[in-house]
Amino acid sequence: MILVTGGAGFIGSNFILDWISATSESVVNLDKLTYAGNLENLANLKDDPRHAFVQGDINDRTLVAKLLSQHQPRAIIHFAAESHVDRSIHGPGEFIQTNINGTFSLLEEVRAYWQVLQGEEKAAFRFLHVSTDEVYGSLGANDPPFTETTAYAPNSPYSASKAASDHLVRAYHHTYGLPTLTTNCSNNYGAYQFPEKLIPLIILNALNGKPLPIYGDGMNVRDWLYVGDHCAAIRTVLSGGRLGETYNIGGWNEKTNLDVVNTVCAILDELKPAADSKPYASLITYVKDRPGHDRRYAIDARKIERELGWKPMETFETGIRETVAWYLDNMGWVESIVSGEYQKWMKANYQNREVP
Ligand code: NAD
Ligand code: TYD
Repeated sequence: MILVTGGAGFIGSNFILDWISATSESVVNLDKLTYAGNLENLANLKDDPRHAFVQGDINDRTLVAKLLSQHQPRAIIHFAAESHVDRSIHGPGEFIQTNINGTFSLLEEVRAYWQVLQGEEKAAFRFLHVSTDEVYGSLGANDPPFTETTAYAPNSPYSASKAASDHLVRAYHHTYGLPTLTTNCSNNYGAYQFPEKLIPLIILNALNGKPLPIYGDGMNVRDWLYVGDHCAAIRTVLSGGRLGETYNIGGWNEKTNLDVVNTVCAILDELKPAADSKPYASLITYVKDRPGHDRRYAIDARKIERELGWKPMETFETGIRETVAWYLDNMGWVESIVSGEYQKWMKANYQNREVP
């Protein structure tokens, strides 16, 4: 069996659903259930004996040690993190606590567990750390995409905390021989993404007739990957990745934010036209930019393709259509997670972003 951290969040829950249908192994899911964790994402596994949920913090070393000794996992897939750049600007403390201290606590307990494993079990054990392309910083318009050897240059408290966690994972491999793997992935989109992130936020605001906030000039570029492709890539790295290595994962889908928002609006116009028949794009509103906003991210995903044969299955056009349709079909899910806490966040993040 495997132990997943942060399995009630966006990517972690997609990964667990995918894992249960693609393999015959069980999963223990350790998640603190912050605002971003939602057990509704895993409602389909409610009666499935192969999924065991444990509410807890990766900083709780007693709990982590107990789970390791009780379940004897053959691998850890570490998703748990604070993940939203804007929140890291408003309050970086939790990012240090979970992304850095939490990863350190987890590594310490996993090291103690792994060191006493024997023979085949010890050789087969893996610690897979899920990270981001944001650790590499920002690209100019004509720069080549990030490779695994691009120097780290994180610019936000979020990316700095993820960079620190990547360095700890690297050090535990080099110093203690812990069998680690690290993946650095580009922006994900798909089902179960919390609507503070660009794509679900735009879908939700459009359906509610609210402004669609575009930071700055809307020309920042992200390299979008469908979450199902990310999950498949993680499984691929887990089974075939070389120990101590990092693998960049991306969709070869560079888009400006304005392109993404216009595409989402056009699909909504087709699938659920506004009551007043106005195109949703008429709600686009330019707002004050994010401080330190990285201009461009792009991933060179040739290493994982060359060494492990992974390639994304979805294009942006197919993945985004599926995603918009999923949100339209699952408005009950959206309503269940758009709590008072969410309303408070929206107010805090957008109240001082008046049109410049
Ligand atoms: P998310 O914010 O949706 O989910 C994070 C999950 O971790 C939540 O369920 C939360 O409850 C849990 N968690 C937070 N702090 C915890 C703690 N101290 N102990 C235990 N659980 C805790 O994040 P996501 O978008 O699913 O991202 C998952 C991972 O993938 C993160 O490590 C992130 O850095 C990385 N990543 C995300 C993207 C993306 O586009 N979303 C891209 C590349 C990499
Ligand atoms: P986001 O989903 O927060 O991901 P990240 O910052 O990790 O890339 O944002 C994606 C892009 O969209 C980023 O360039 C910021 C921009 N953005 C907006 O223009 N408006 C918004 O309301 C949000 C949340 C993001």
